[in-house]
Amino acid sequence: MPFSAILDQALDRSVVLGFSRIGPLLRRGWWPPDPAPGSLSGSVVAVTGANSGLGKATAAGAARLGAQVRMLCRSVERGAQARAEILRELPDADLHVDRCDVSDLASLPEVADALRAVTPRVRALVHNAGVMPPERAETPAGLELTLATHVLGPHLLTHLLRAPLADDGAGRVVFVASGGMYTQRLRMDDPEYTEGEYSPPVAYARTKRMQVHLAESWARELAAERVSVHSMHPGWADTPGVQTSLPGFRKLTGPFLRSAEEGADTTVWLLAAEEGARTSGLFWHDRAPRRTSYLSRTAPTPGEVDELWRFCVDETGVPPRFP
Ligand SMILES: NC(=O)c1ccc[n+]([C@@H]2O[C@H](COP(=O)([O-])OP(=O)(O)OC[C@H]3O[C@@H](n4cnc5c(N)ncnc54)[C@H](OP(=O)(O)O)[C@@H]3O)[C@@H](O)[C@H]2O)c1
Repeated sequence: MPFSAILDQALDRSVVLGFSRIGPLLRRGWWPPDPAPGSLSGSVVAVTGANSGLGKATAAGAARLGAQVRMLCRSVERGAQARAEILRELPDADLHVDRCDVSDLASLPEVADALRAVTPRVRALVHNAGVMPPERAETPAGLELTLATHVLGPHLLTHLLRAPLADDGAGRVVFVASGGMYTQRLRMDDPEYTEGEYSPPVAYARTKRMQVHLAESWARELAAERVSVHSMHPGWADTPGVQTSLPGFRKLTGPFLRSAEEGADTTVWLLAAEEGARTSGLFWHDRAPRRTSYLSRTAPTPGEVDELWRFCVDETGVPPRFP
């Protein structure tokens, strides 16, 4: 095994080193090359939660490679502000802000219709929007908020944009999960976290694990349409979300946190690199596929992964067929 592979694994197992800014600092010495300039020219990339942190960095990264970026934001005002900030750096960027609250499932058909009205093809859909509410919260429709934002909304939106993703010919879906998911197993017995004392990081990590295994199912579902589906984790990046939801963690890890750009790097790379089309259903970090569990107690059975899929289908009504 080459020394770089041994070091890469050691970084991963140490967690702190691999997830921190040390991860990309070392790994860029051996990771695959950057996408070619202009490699997303003529492509449309849609990013949820694109007005802040990693989503904003993903929007900028895709625009830098020539994509037209649809910034799907729940506040068009915050979206417009982020767009203006990116344009100061990249005056030629092709950025558009579209209203989208991904946790509001009833509104998503309208979001998808609006997108399809402006473009017949979508190269990539990035499920980046994320939340860690301090207390258990529900959407107006009565869905637990992290489940709606990280799992059910992305599930429905993927289905609604299935045709434009397939029409691209090299379509990709990326779920921005979290390394926090390593701490939790799939909890299909209590997907809406109704039992036991609510813990924000646990709720967050449970739904992030769901994203990883939902991506595996979507990869199978979309294989015939040549749409690749990936999940990834960004490591630990200094973003407004971390500043607000995890101030203690940020204080502790501050100097070691990645920049938002470093956190978004693998997502942007997957959108443009050949590996992003050639592979599907994998979980990525720092431009390499990673294990989805290190402990047997957190590894789901195939039955549990299917159960997650059926749960999403039942809750959203789509897609109407599987497998
Ligand atoms: N930063 C890290 O170290 C880290 C680590 C692991 C995973 N992640 C994941 O990376 C993603 C981005 O996180 P971040 O750190 O960049 O956090 P952030 O700065 O808080 O950004 C989160 C974005 O999601 C948007 N959002 C939340 N709920 C939404 C909804 N219902 N519909 C549409 N947009 C919504 C937010 O919009 P508003 O501005 O309107 O609130 C914001 O734009 C999340 O999925 C997070 O779980 C981050």
